[in-house]
Amino acid sequence: MASITIRDVRVSYNKRGSYALKGLDLDIKDGEFCVFLGPSGCGKSTAMHCIAGLIHPDTGEIRIGGSVTTSVERREFVPPQERNIAMVFQEYALYPNMTARGNMSFALETKKTPRDEVARQVDKTARMLGIESLLDRKPAELSGGQRQRVALGRALVRNPSVFLLDEPLGNLDAKLREQVRYELKKIQTQMGVTTVYVTHDQTEAMTMADHIVLMKDGEIVQQGAPTELYDRPSHLFVAGFLGTPRINMFDCVIQARDGSLRFNAGDFSIPAPENMEDALRPLLGREVILGARPSDLSIVENGEGDIRGVVDGVEPLGDAYLVYINIGSRVIIVKSAGGSGALSGSLALKASPDRLHVFDKDTEKRIGA
Ligand SMILES: Nc1ncnc2c1ncn2[C@@H]1O[C@H](COP(=O)(O)OP(=O)(O)OP(=O)(O)O)[C@@H](O)[C@H]1O
Ligand SMILES: [Mg+2]
Repeated sequence: MASITIRDVRVSYNKRGSYALKGLDLDIKDGEFCVFLGPSGCGKSTAMHCIAGLIHPDTGEIRIGGSVTTSVERREFVPPQERNIAMVFQEYALYPNMTARGNMSFALETKKTPRDEVARQVDKTARMLGIESLLDRKPAELSGGQRQRVALGRALVRNPSVFLLDEPLGNLDAKLREQVRYELKKIQTQMGVTTVYVTHDQTEAMTMADHIVLMKDGEIVQQGAPTELYDRPSHLFVAGFLGTPRINMFDCVIQARDGSLRFNAGDFSIPAPENMEDALRPLLGREVILGARPSDLSIVENGEGDIRGVVDGVEPLGDAYLVYINIGSRVIIVKSAGGSGALSGSLALKASPDRLHVFDKDTEKRIGA
C-alpha cells in the first residue's frame, strides 16, 4: 500500500526545450484508483513511466509510500525492479516460451510462494479474466485480447504496493472490456492497492476512477472525482472530452432583456440561470461559449421551448434515442427517452438551466460556480 507524490516532473525527449511533461504536480492517495486520461500524445504513458522508474526526468521528485524513488536534485533513483510495482504496458510483453500459467506464476514462484498457493491465485485470477481454459497455451497461440488478459493476470497475482496499467483493455472487444473493467475495479477495491490506470477512453475513466487526472499537451487541465469533472468542467476542453455524445457548444452573446440576462446564440435565445447573474453581468454584450449536454436538453411536448428546430435524424440506442435537430445554422444533439413517434418534424427544446456550462471565449475557462 502506498501513496504517490509527484512534484515538478519535467520530461523532454529531444532535449530541445519541448517538454512531453511540463512540470507535473500530483498527489495520489493510498489505495486510490487514479486514471490518467487525455488525447493521444498528451503525456499519459510518459507520466506513468516516470512513476515506474523507466524514465529519468529532467527535473522533479517522485515519492512512493513516502520514500523518494526519483529525485533529480538529490541524484536519487530507485531502479524499477526495486519499486514494488506491477505493470501492464501498452505494448505488453509475455515470456514467449512459457505458457499463460507459467507467465502468471513466474513472479510468485521467484518469491518462493508455496506451489498450491500459486496455483490457487492463478486459477482465481484466470477465472476472473475469463482465460481459465487458455492457461496451457503459449503466447503465440493466443489472440491479442487473450494475451492482454494474461498480461493483466500476471500483474494482478503479484502483491505489489502499486499497479501501473497502461491501456490494459485496449485489445478487448466491447463486451469483454465492460466485463473485465468491472472485475478489475472490484479486485482493486478488495486489494486496496494504489492503482494508476492510463486510458483515452472516457467511459473507462468515469466508471473506474476515484480520481481522474485529465491531461493535455503535457499538463493537467483538471483533476478530481469523475462527477466533479463531469458536472463542473473547469475548462472547455474538459467539457468536450467527457460525455458521450459530445456536449453541444454554442457561441452566444450575453444580453439583458426585461431586467434579466439571456444567452443569445443567433438561432435562439435562452434565459441565463439566476445564480449566474453576478458572474455574467460584467460580461454583458460579450461573447461566451455555452455548453449543454445532450441529456440536459429535453423535447417539450406542447412546443413552448426556447429552442425551435426540425428533426434531422434519429438514432435509437435501445433505451433512449439520439435526436439530431436542425436549428438553422447548426445541428443540436439531444438524448431523449421518449418514443420515436414524437421525434419528427418541428419541435421545441428546453435546457435545464442549472445544467448549463458557460466558458470564457478567450481563456476557455469556466465562468460562474
Ligand atoms: N521515446 C520517445 N521519443 C521521443 N518522443 C517521445 C517518446 N515517447 C513519447 N514521445 C512524445 O512525447 C509525447 C507524450 O507521449 P506519451 O507516449 O506520453 O503520450 P500518451 O498520452 O501516452 O499517448 P497515447 O494515448 O497515444 O499512448 C508525445 O508527443 C510523443 O510523441
Ligand atoms: Mg500511451
